Amino acid sequence: MNRGLFITFEGPDGSGKSTQIKKLKIKLESRGFETVLTREPGGTAISENIREIILDVKNSEMDSLTEALLYAAARSQHVNQVILPALKASKTVICDRFMDSSIAYQGYGRKLGDQVRIINEYAVRGISPDITFLLLLEPSIGKGRIKREYDRLELEQNKFHEDVYQGYMELAKCNPKRIIIIDATKSIIEIEKEIELHLEKLLLKKREIYDL
Ligand code: ADP
Ligand code: TYD
Repeated sequence: MNRGLFITFEGPDGSGKSTQIKKLKIKLESRGFETVLTREPGGTAISENIREIILDVKNSEMDSLTEALLYAAARSQHVNQVILPALKASKTVICDRFMDSSIAYQGYGRKLGDQVRIINEYAVRGISPDITFLLLLEPSIGKGRIKREYDRLELEQNKFHEDVYQGYMELAKCNPKRIIIIDATKSIIEIEKEIELHLEKLLLKKREIYDL
């Protein structure tokens, strides 16, 4: 299907995803791509409500499987209401976090393993990003960059965030074509240029496929 491009950003909290996403949206729009910028958990009214429940520091008794199911529920609504319609209308979608976050945080961080993938396969209805930029940096550095109050996940102990980091490394190893590892300790401009280069390559490849 000649649908729009689906781009996701992943990485530990504070790794610079939002900063780069905003820049990429401007760049793509200046080149004529109609671009939808969205985020997870969130992106629809229902999913933003679920986000509030998940991240609320008062919900410290939340069971890990409940957490995984809530992320997947928010994603299901988001895919159905926003992402799929945009892609079908040939728009480019940039999403701040997607299913890889669940694999890394709930699969590896919470140690729920493969059940997280299974739950999420229902939620994503067969879609997968064309390219994922994984902004990797030590979780402690990312945390140090966050100036607002920490949410429930950010308040987790260091071990949890180290396991999430390992989860991302595994995901990148298993999906070398889709997931591009970016060293998030580089400057904002350096990272921006690296992302642009990878995107150019992807666009060239897509054009070759569709021009055949
Ligand atoms: P995320 O969306 O991954 O949580 P943000 O883009 O909000 O991260 O960045 C978190 C903080 O770090 C912000 O204050 C931002 O200005 C800063 N920041 C972003 N990228 C970099 C970078 N490459 N180097 C240093 N600081 C950065
Ligand atoms: P977000 O607001 O994107 O965090 P940040 O901007 O700090 O990177 O995401 C909220 C938190 O939810 C973040 O700690 C990562 C976590 N998360 C999961 O645990 N599983 C998921 O499936 C998603 C999408 C996010």
